[in-house]
This record gives sequence, structure tokens and C-alpha cells, in this order.
Amino acid sequence: MVKILLLGNGAREHVIAETFKKSPQNPEIFSYMKANNPGIASLSKETCIGSYTDYDKIKDFVKKVEPDFAFIGPDDPIGDGIVDMIEEVGVKSVAPKKALARLESSKSYTRELLTKYGIPGNPAYKIFTQESDAKDIEEFLESIPGFVIKPDGLTGGKGVKVQGDHLDTIKDAIEYCKEVLETHPRVVVEEKLDGEEFSLMCLTDGEHVILTPPCQDHKRAFIDDTGPNTGGMGSYSDANHLLPFLPQSDVDNAMRITRLVAKALKEDNGEPFVGVMYGGWICTDEGTKLIEYNARFGDPEVMNVLPILKSDFVTICQAMINGTLDQVEAEFENKATVCKYAVPDGYPTNPAAGEKIEMGEASPGVKVYYASVDKKEDGLYLSTSRAIGFVGIADTLKEAEALAEGSIDAVKGKVFHRPDIGTEKLIQKRIDHMKRVRPE
Ligand code: AMP
Ligand code: GLY
Repeated sequence: MVKILLLGNGAREHVIAETFKKSPQNPEIFSYMKANNPGIASLSKETCIGSYTDYDKIKDFVKKVEPDFAFIGPDDPIGDGIVDMIEEVGVKSVAPKKALARLESSKSYTRELLTKYGIPGNPAYKIFTQESDAKDIEEFLESIPGFVIKPDGLTGGKGVKVQGDHLDTIKDAIEYCKEVLETHPRVVVEEKLDGEEFSLMCLTDGEHVILTPPCQDHKRAFIDDTGPNTGGMGSYSDANHLLPFLPQSDVDNAMRITRLVAKALKEDNGEPFVGVMYGGWICTDEGTKLIEYNARFGDPEVMNVLPILKSDFVTICQAMINGTLDQVEAEFENKATVCKYAVPDGYPTNPAAGEKIEMGEASPGVKVYYASVDKKEDGLYLSTSRAIGFVGIADTLKEAEALAEGSIDAVKGKVFHRPDIGTEKLIQKRIDHMKRVRPE
């Protein structure tokens, strides 16, 4: 019997647990969560509730379970080096070690890695430190058509500031760089790119790379891409494993770059990156450019891809750990998927945490994944983040959208969602944007 330790308590880990349970290897799941996610708990043989920074507690759980491998879902523990710690007690993880996780945790590391190994995909960028002269920052800002400022380090998705959205003038940009450098050793200043974004999550053993269908996330909180940035309000993928605005050539470029980056990471660190290389890409008039890499599955995007995986995910994870990913295949159904998140009222700035919600029945054909909810004796409670993901799966995007939208009202309580995600109108807006960026 295969035993898997799964760390994480979000919808990402709920769908991962569900996908493991579909395996003909019939694995047992032992979950370590910081809050009691009822979806994960119902699929687990045993659960342990504790903090992700309580390494003693995690180690004790690993020693007790003696899993065949661990799967670490969220970015913070991966960036903190939990994989190195778990390996000390003899267990390998599907997730990178701390040094390799710099792919996500240090934006400057990744930009410089691409430069060092001559890999295409970077926008114009420059890295500044506490010793840098404000004049040099100004000079670089003046040399690019628009700017994006990125603190070097994990910031929970909140530190990146984009010209036009969060900052206007070069003076604002310099001020923000100075502010960032008070708490971070480095700041990345880069050219603002124009185009539609897509997510491509690749599985790797550090040598071989296999891809999952591309998706598009929706970062803004409100309808028509307005309001503050969030962890992602919903996402979609299409039946042909492309997106209505996305040609095969951009996917091929992203895949080619990811293969080169996996090799570069191995050479640079002396050991392989095992896990998920999730690239955020943008289709520009100058080709496919890299926004950033994450070292884990995307949330919500993982809910678009794992439910349509036909192959055995446990076998794929074993191959990632053993360095034999070239010997397995990942096949996905030709289905369109639309995921919409029900999130607490006031999310992300002032979420209605601690409010009780009721969960009714979703329609047949709709998948429901629990995220940041806590199941207590008397019911289900909201926390500060996204609550429940609804995924419609169908032959067309239109049908998949109608399925997700038709079921999301099953959550009763202080929640809202974005009804426009996956609709024809919003998708047409993406297509029209790409036509402007890349005229025929
Ligand atoms: P991140 O926090 O790194 O996920 O970045 C948040 C968002 O900032 C991305 O999803 C993009 O929409 C935007 N962004 C980051 N870098 C760039 C760039 N060089 N050009 C345009 N937009 C960017
Ligand atoms: N989809 C955004 C993220 O997982 O970071």
C-alpha cells in the first residue's frame, strides 16, 4: 500500500488528494493541515492539524506515518525549506528543496538564471540593492516604456506594483523601490509588457518535463477585471488544450524555455528541481515572455487540470522522485473546464472571516473543492481567503461556464464570486486584446 503525506489545506490540496485517490495503486493519504479542510479530511486516512512552521510537529508526523513520499502544496513552506527538513528524516518530496525553490521565492534569482544560461523570455530588467544609487534606478526607469517593481522575496502576491495600476510616475517608482529596499535586500525593476497572460504548469524530475493544459487565471477581485489583486478568483482551460486567444506557438515557446530552465537549475544547484514549474507567461508582440515562475501548482489553475488527468498521478509523482519522468505519460481529457471561487465578502482587503456558511448540493457534473474553510463541530466557517471552488467540466467553455455558474449558489452565507469568468463576453475581450497586441 502506497502512503502519501500531503501538506496543505486549500482547494489545491483537495484536488490533489482526490486525484491521488483515483489511482489504481489505491494510496492512503495522511494530511497535515493548518485548518480542518473537510474535503481533504474525508479523503485522508489520518489528519494532523498544525502550523506549517512547526517543524517538530511535522517531523513527528512524518516519522509516525513513514510515507513513501510527501507532496507539499503551498509556496510558503516550500520556500522555507520544508523539503530539506523532510528529507532529513528520509522522505523525498514532490516539491523542490529550498535552494531550487528560489525559482519562485527570489524573482532576481530567476531573472539572472535565464540571463546566465542565455535562455530567452526575460523582459528588460535590472536588479537594485540597498547600495544602489537612486540616479541609476531613475536612469533605468527612463530607458523602458513602462515599469513593474517587484520586491525580491515571497510577498503573498501583494508586493508587485505595475505602472498604471498601482504607481504612475517615475518618482513614485523610485519611492516604492526605496520602501521595498528597507525590508528586502533587492528589488527587481522590469519593463512592463503588454499582452494576454496564461499559466502553464509543467511537471519535472529536474531533467524531463511534461506539461499540463494551459489555463488563464483572473487576478482581480471584481467583474470586468476591476478591484484589487487576489490569489485568483477563477480560471479556465479549453478542450483543445489551448485557449481561445492562445496559439500553439506560445505554448511551445513556454515549454522549450521551461526545459532549458530545468536544466539550468540542475547545473546551477548541483541537484534537480523536482516538482511543478508553473510559469506565468505573457503573449507579447515580441513573442512569449516570462512574468514569473512558481514552484508549485497554481491555485485555482490546478482545479482545471487535475480533474481531467486520465493517467495515474501517483505513478507520475513516483517518476518525478525517481528521475524517470520520461518513462510515463500524462494524458488529459479533451474537455473544457471553468473554475469559479466563492470568496468571503470583503475579500481580499477586509474578508468576512469567522462567518458561518452552509454548503448545499452542486449540480451533477460540477466538482466542488474546499479551500480556506474550517470545519468545526457545529459547521463550516469562512477564513480570510478563498472559500470554495466550483469547477464545470464539459465539451465547450460555454457549457462548462454554465455548469460552474449554475452551482455556485449552493454556498449560502457571506460570499461572492465573479460571474463573468469563462463567459463568451470576457473571452472575446481577451481575443480582441491579442488582436491589438499582435495585428495580422
Ligand atoms: P506576481 O505577483 O509576480 O504574480 O505579479 C502579479 C501580476 O503583475 C502578474 O500576474 C502580471 O499581471 C503583472 N506583471 C508582473 N510582471 C509584469 C511585467 N513585466 N509586465 C506586465 N505585467 C506584469
Ligand atoms: N493562480 C495564482 C497562484 O497560484 O499563484
